[in-house]
Amino acid sequence: MSLVEVENLTIRFGNKSVVEQVSFRLDRGETLALVGESGSGKSLTALSLLQLQPPGAMVSGRVTLDGLDTLTADAARLQSSRGGVAGMIFQEPMTSLNPLMRIGQQVREAMELHRTLTQAEAQIQAVDLLREVGFPDAIDRLDAFPH
Ligand SMILES: Nc1ncnc2c1ncn2[C@@H]1O[C@H](COP(=O)(O)OP(=O)(O)OP(=O)(O)O)[C@@H](O)[C@H]1O
Ligand SMILES: [Mg+2]
Repeated sequence: MSLVEVENLTIRFGNKSVVEQVSFRLDRGETLALVGESGSGKSLTALSLLQLQPPGAMVSGRVTLDGLDTLTADAARLQSSRGGVAGMIFQEPMTSLNPLMRIGQQVREAMELHRTLTQAEAQIQAVDLLREVGFPDAIDRLDAFPH
């Protein structure tokens, strides 16, 4: 079984079909790009893999993430899948961070939710991650706000 399996994914708003019968597979270590013109359904396809589609979207077909049937999974199972097996990097990075939360807290939040780490461990990993993406003064950045 592949890491990600999408079979006949169809997404509708009322009687308007915006994604029709999309199927693809993705194995561990592979990269897959969905390419298409604006409005062709790339974002809705990606969002629906984690049940993050907007209200009113009717999603049918079959989606499995590492064996979990995400279209039928309950909220708790999905929560542990998000961030563990699957993460999402949204468009518009400038609006992705909460302007009122300090950077360290935002980076730690995902780790504390999805991994069994103590606060101290999460703090150390947050510094490592910030260094990895190129912040030389990572420790100082933890207490800074995104701006
Ligand atoms: N909440 C919604 N209600 C009704 N229709 C929607 C909604 N969200 C998206 N759509 C429609 O679904 C279609 C697919 O949208 P989607 O955002 O997935 O496209 P996209 O391929 O990601 O486009 P882009 O390249 O611009 O990001 C579009 O026609 C859009 O108008
Ligand atoms: Mg999009």
